[in-house]
Amino acid sequence: MKIALIGADGQLGTDIYKYFKEKDLEVIGLTEKEIDVCDLNICKDLLIKLKPDLIINTAAFHQVDVCEDEAVTTFDVNVAGVKILSDICLKLDIPLMHFSTDFVFGRYHKETPYTESDCPKPVSIYGISKLAGECVIQYVLKKYYLIRVCGLYGHAGSMGKGSNFVELMIRLAEEGKGIKVVDDQILTPTSTKDVARKLHELIQTGKYGLFHMTNTGSCSWYEFACEIFKLAGLSPNISPTTSEEFGAKARRPAYSVLDNKNLRAIGLEDMGNWKEALKDYIDER
Ligand SMILES: NC(=O)c1ccc[n+]([C@@H]2O[C@H](COP(=O)([O-])OP(=O)(O)OC[C@H]3O[C@@H](n4cnc5c(N)ncnc54)[C@H](OP(=O)(O)O)[C@@H]3O)[C@@H](O)[C@H]2O)c1
Repeated sequence: MKIALIGADGQLGTDIYKYFKEKDLEVIGLTEKEIDVCDLNICKDLLIKLKPDLIINTAAFHQVDVCEDEAVTTFDVNVAGVKILSDICLKLDIPLMHFSTDFVFGRYHKETPYTESDCPKPVSIYGISKLAGECVIQYVLKKYYLIRVCGLYGHAGSMGKGSNFVELMIRLAEEGKGIKVVDDQILTPTSTKDVARKLHELIQTGKYGLFHMTNTGSCSWYEFACEIFKLAGLSPNISPTTSEEFGAKARRPAYSVLDNKNLRAIGLEDMGNWKEALKDYIDER
């Protein structure tokens, strides 16, 4: 199988590239220098010439607070770019694998994990754009793997965000700064390495659709930070805070844990607990 991987040097892209190569798949890694998903001509020229059997798109504009002020760029990358890729997949008669987010939820309050059949209602421009990207794929294509992930961290660090939460916390602790982390947003931190493994299992099934794909368990960002420090052997001055006090520009869901129900329905096992995945990551640093 020949795979065109867009965003190959990003956080998730790096782990997909590495793991799929280990599994002897032919992966052509494309970075933003080679392909801009918003450029119709470049995408067409490159992808139609490559003739892949699958396009994987990890590209996104996902600096959640910046998105509030830069809606045009946000929608260009997260919606118009996805339409360009969907049209190319339709023309080539191949599936598109694309990533969405737990941030499509949040406007109504739930305290149990969201399944794929729960109605998404985002609370930010980023979440709205990612939901629109989902709609575009489902409108254009029948063959797609639409994957909602949550709280990603991987060794490459998020290109779009400059780092990832684990590395940010460790850096702040090493700088000896007082750290305040929100304790009223609940998520499932998820390892990009674990996602890459599960994606490989998923493409072996050839089952298309919308899938939640996260590690299991849940915590607040504050609890996530405390676990990072425990595993890294650090004891910084950390205290919990509220979203209101923290005052980020964009709203975030108070609870956005995802139930991986559709993966289980096609016979794939749940991914490991977030604490075990985090331990692996810290041990490998
Ligand atoms: N990170 C999270 O916690 C999280 C949570 C939920 C969902 N997601 C979703 O998961 C996916 C992967 O996230 P990630 O953390 O791996 O992001 P990332 O590290 O920022 O990787 C995104 C990659 O896409 C590239 N890119 C950005 N704009 C592009 C464009 N217009 N054309 C082509 N390539 C472009 C980036 O290149 P440059 O850096 O050179 O621009 C980067 O290599 C995204 O769809 C994101 O929305 C992420």
